[in-house]
Amino acid sequence: MQRIRKAVFPVAGLGTRFLPATKAVPKEMLTVVDRPVIQYVVDEAREAGIEHFIFVTGRNKAVIEDHFDIQFELNQTLAQRGKDDQLAKLQRLQPLAGQTSFTRQQEPLGLGHAVWCARELVGDEPFALLLPDMIMQSEKSCMKEMVELYGHTGGNVVAVQECDPSETHKYGIVGKGGDIHNGFRLTGMVEKPKQGTAPSNLYINGRYILQPEIFSILENQERGAGNEIQLTDGMLKLEKEQGFYGFHYQGRTFDCGSPEGFIEANVAFALARPDIAGKMAPVIAGLLDEAQAKSGGALRQSG
Ligand code: UTP
Repeated sequence: MQRIRKAVFPVAGLGTRFLPATKAVPKEMLTVVDRPVIQYVVDEAREAGIEHFIFVTGRNKAVIEDHFDIQFELNQTLAQRGKDDQLAKLQRLQPLAGQTSFTRQQEPLGLGHAVWCARELVGDEPFALLLPDMIMQSEKSCMKEMVELYGHTGGNVVAVQECDPSETHKYGIVGKGGDIHNGFRLTGMVEKPKQGTAPSNLYINGRYILQPEIFSILENQERGAGNEIQLTDGMLKLEKEQGFYGFHYQGRTFDCGSPEGFIEANVAFALARPDIAGKMAPVIAGLLDEAQAKSGGALRQSG
């Protein structure tokens, strides 16, 4: 069984749900507490043992490449000013020379197309795929647990989580078969099922391990929902030929591609940081009380 060495990060989407913030700044560079969203996802992949980070970028995304480069003048200034902690933090997060690759998706034709754009860089080996606007919070990296499951099953693995059964029509939903190690065999996948038809309330949360055969499928994939080349359509074809397994992730996932998910991520990560939580917890509680009083008590019921 081939080891998972490479990870693909498709960062070429337009981020229309987060306009005007994303007009000139990629959504992956928006900041959760003190680091850009993309840094959380790359760190998750690194914790899972990934050695090569492949970014599928688009126009206006060059700043992502800069973020993972060395800022020589900045490092020198930090060293001169004795800011060793800050310098060490930057160096810890810095990928090694040759560990990153960037390719362009010239037109945002959909997630399936973005993944296909990475085919030459991935080559003929299984790879991890992480949607960079979904960030996770848990003790152990989601991708790390998926790699462990993959070690038992091989094939293809998707991470899933429970959603409210009334919301299944918004997601890619899987059917659950028998348990294997820390996961289960998938009995099917359906993208945005009509209400009342979903096989479960387990949705695919943006983390995948895929076999390279997905590339030849995506090459010939017609456009699907939203007139885009959809990854799920490609996976449905691959599922007819190869095993698919689900990893039931127990942590939190934040959709930082939407303002609500992004704000939630900021609050959750701030409250999880010992150096920040003590100061922020009373501030957040105070703001909430104030807003609640102003709304005459309606706020808590409105969500
Ligand atoms: P999304 O649909 O969440 O991203 O795609 P989007 O298209 O940027 O968002 P909205 O709906 O306009 O707000 C999931 C992931 O796939 C990437 C996105 O960057 C995101 O990380 N993607 C999507 C591409 O790289 N290329 C595409 O053509 C579409």
